[in-house]
Amino acid sequence: MTAKIAILPGDGIGPEIVAEAVKVIGCLCEHYGFQVELEEAQIGGAAVDTSGEPLPEATLRLARQADAILLGAVGGPKWEILERRRRPEQGLLAIRSALGLFGNLRPAILYAELAGASTLRPEIVAGLDILIVRELTGGIYFGEPRGVRTLGTGEREAYNTLVYRESEIARIARLAFEIAGKRDGRLCSVDKANVLESSGLWREVVTRLAPEYPQVELSHLYVDNAAMQLVRAPKQFDVIVTGNLFGDILSDCAAMLTGSIGMLPSAALDERGKGMYEPVHGSAPDIAGRDMANPLATILSLAMMLRYSLNQAKLAERVESAVRRVLAEGYRTADIHTVGTRRVGTREMGDAITSALRAAAA
Ligand code: IPM
Ligand code: MG
Repeated sequence: MTAKIAILPGDGIGPEIVAEAVKVIGCLCEHYGFQVELEEAQIGGAAVDTSGEPLPEATLRLARQADAILLGAVGGPKWEILERRRRPEQGLLAIRSALGLFGNLRPAILYAELAGASTLRPEIVAGLDILIVRELTGGIYFGEPRGVRTLGTGEREAYNTLVYRESEIARIARLAFEIAGKRDGRLCSVDKANVLESSGLWREVVTRLAPEYPQVELSHLYVDNAAMQLVRAPKQFDVIVTGNLFGDILSDCAAMLTGSIGMLPSAALDERGKGMYEPVHGSAPDIAGRDMANPLATILSLAMMLRYSLNQAKLAERVESAVRRVLAEGYRTADIHTVGTRRVGTREMGDAITSALRAAAA
């Protein structure tokens, strides 16, 4: 079967890191019999510049037709002055919502070779393997009403709505329970049930589902405590399930435990397992175009795509072991570079991965 992948490079370092992942795809085709059709489209600021919209109709159409989507990153200072609905980030939120990509998987894995790159002591993070399951199409990011209004006094007031339906909570909770069942069997649900009604319902729904998953041990934490526990003793976690905003914040925090956000892939899945794959880091405009960015998060996102959407678990493992091998050989981009390792640029890192893949195929 020929897989159809939509390639959406986006802004900043997006095009550079996606180019390295495309190189890896080419290598899989050449040496591992992978068959694929790639089609590229614009999203974010790049799309705003050419069409005035952060998510052009043609891009959405391509994404709908594809079996999976690979996205770089969106955004940058150039577009921050635009009105909100034209900003690059809206393109990302709109594609997540339009495709129903409610289930965001954000693994934080510490590669043994990078223990020294974490700001936490090695014994705190060694062997870390956490998965954050973030609800991605609801909560305060999408809740209505939202807006800015002017009060009678002339003062302005801005408001957003944090709303979750029972079905939305159950859907993301089930995904998390199922994944936890295939991992270490520990699921921690994170909310703010001591203050928020939406969190009260969240906790109730998650708790009600637990008996259906007897192999999973469920616990609950308030989000402030969860943030503290993540940096105090992160290895206590296996799978964390949480809402959109808390998941956004906690996943950056978990990312940093691993030494660099430049290493972390993600998947955003719909109800049938179709997905969009992107690095967790942003568009890093400060280093864009300088051959400095770490392409590994994007390459690892490709591995997730192979596993979760394209039914190619073997190829996913190949890509992941190529990444491990290249790290073991000492290759490091600037973000993970430490004394005694070999500092390389974006392209050289991508080349090292394809060499490792070729060597393993031979
Ligand atoms: C992320 C990003 C996005 C989010 C932004 C760019 C809209 O921070 O994917 O974590 O908040 O979801
Ligand atoms: Mg974020």
